[in-house]
Amino acid sequence: MDENRTIRDFGEQWLKYGDVGGYFGSLELFEDMIFPFIKPDDLRGCKAAEIGSGSGRIVNMLLQSGASHIIAIEPSADAFEVLCRNLQQPEKVTCLKITGDKLPAYGDLDFVFSIGVLHHIPDTKPVVEAAFRALRPEGHFLVWLYGKEGNSIYLALINPLRIFTKRMPHFVLVILVEIIYWPLVFYIKFCHVLPLPLRDYMLSILQKMSPEKRRLIIYDQLNPSYSKYYTRFEAEKLLSDGKFVNIRVHHRHGYSWTVIGTKPSL
Ligand SMILES: C[S@@+](CC[C@H](N)C(=O)[O-])C[C@H]1O[C@@H](n2cnc3c(N)ncnc32)[C@H](O)[C@@H]1O
Repeated sequence: MDENRTIRDFGEQWLKYGDVGGYFGSLELFEDMIFPFIKPDDLRGCKAAEIGSGSGRIVNMLLQSGASHIIAIEPSADAFEVLCRNLQQPEKVTCLKITGDKLPAYGDLDFVFSIGVLHHIPDTKPVVEAAFRALRPEGHFLVWLYGKEGNSIYLALINPLRIFTKRMPHFVLVILVEIIYWPLVFYIKFCHVLPLPLRDYMLSILQKMSPEKRRLIIYDQLNPSYSKYYTRFEAEKLLSDGKFVNIRVHHRHGYSWTVIGTKPSL
């Protein structure tokens, strides 16, 4: 699997959908992502890193939570430009144009986050090891991953489609996104009255997104050359193999995993 291709794919994505406003970039959404393990207030005065910052919404959420300094890692040159442009308090952020495995071994970070990134990386081990080295003892690594459980019907539909879409040129994919957008709007409406698959996600998250961000989310599902849907066991193992302890897993809205682990004390 070509890591560079995945990174290039994301560059195109963030050039097209680079805005980080609205619910997509809100503290309300961040609270939902890190629930039930961390509250935004826990980040006040902390040093943190985010692996795979994309257009920078998570970095801004960390800033809004009161983090004192953030290391933002983004390997795509195109996305890196968008990230730097979107930062709310650039003086508190160090942006590094590197892959996650190259995160420097600071050894004093309170938190490392990786939201929606590790499921696009074929070999996650070096990235998890780098997060471990960058944290202080008793620091936490929180990751958010696509889940396998709760997604079986969705995966039966999307996997055959992705065989084609991940190879499509950007402009064709943008047209396909438009075609899928309206059925999705109606699907969200039907979720109000019917117990359809992914109902919790549709009503708790997707419904709150602007039309532009819903399009981004469709694009993001069809575009990356590598996407892995983790079982609960695999999600937990990702961090236990990386020597993290006290690993806890939350099945977020029934379709994804929020996983947190702690670096053991000395
Ligand atoms: C789905 S986006 C998530 C962006 C951001 N975390 C968010 O939630 O908005 C995944 C990002 O990970 C980056 N990425 C891909 N491979 C990576 C790697 N090996 N190390 C670090 N980041 C990587 C991509 O360039 C992309 O910007």
